[in-house]
Amino acid sequence: MNEAQQQQQRQAAKRAAANAAANLIRSGMTVGLGTGSTATAFVEALGARVAAGELTVRGVPTSQASETLARRLGIETVPLGWESRPDITVDGADEIGPGLNLIKGGGGALVREKLVAAASRELIVIADASKEVPRLGAFPLPMAVFPFGWETACRQLTERFAVPASLRRQREPDGEPVITDDGLYLIDMSFGIIDDPERLQAQLREIVGVAEVGLFVGLATRAIVGQDDGRVVFSGSRRGTGSLLMP
Ligand code: A5P
Repeated sequence: MNEAQQQQQRQAAKRAAANAAANLIRSGMTVGLGTGSTATAFVEALGARVAAGELTVRGVPTSQASETLARRLGIETVPLGWESRPDITVDGADEIGPGLNLIKGGGGALVREKLVAAASRELIVIADASKEVPRLGAFPLPMAVFPFGWETACRQLTERFAVPASLRRQREPDGEPVITDDGLYLIDMSFGIIDDPERLQAQLREIVGVAEVGLFVGLATRAIVGQDDGRVVFSGSRRGTGSLLMP
């Protein structure tokens, strides 16, 4: 199979997971809308159900991009607030590790994604099978940092953890820094292997200047993973539902 065919298969797997998640949404729900290509497929599937008159929902977007998309598709959007805590949030991930712990933020939206996920009654992560890993860490861990003094935070991160840390730029090696929807910079850290995500998250948060870490520990309740053969596999942890194969 060539590269283009692999891409096509991956896209179909993402869509299958996204459609399965959209079918779990019930009328009247407040739904957290993730960010990224898989979350986009979910918002499109949800928008199709809304347009068909099957559902009335409110969406809580995790980025300006998701908000624009949702509105274009006719999904009412509301900002995250106490009265608009999502019943379910559906979002993608860069890596899905044991216990449904995640690395997120490859698209730079980790702060809002985490705020919305943490406020939600349930976080369903959707992905193609390439995102499932036996241990987190091969994907560089994204972190949002305050622009002021970012170099000192970056230096402390490198020295404390003895792994490469780099500022994300619009163009490497010397383009302008990527700026998130919240006006933050992003630093990516290549850990290789993360054995204890919870401990690492706590250690990273001790560095002054780190606004949020792209480790999502204990937040996801279910995963829906699209397979190469078109099936989707549901798995759950803690409040989740066990494992179920869907044709
Ligand atoms: C956005 O900031 C990320 O957390 C995305 O959810 C993650 O990068 C997955 O994106 P894709 O679905 O595009 O792979």
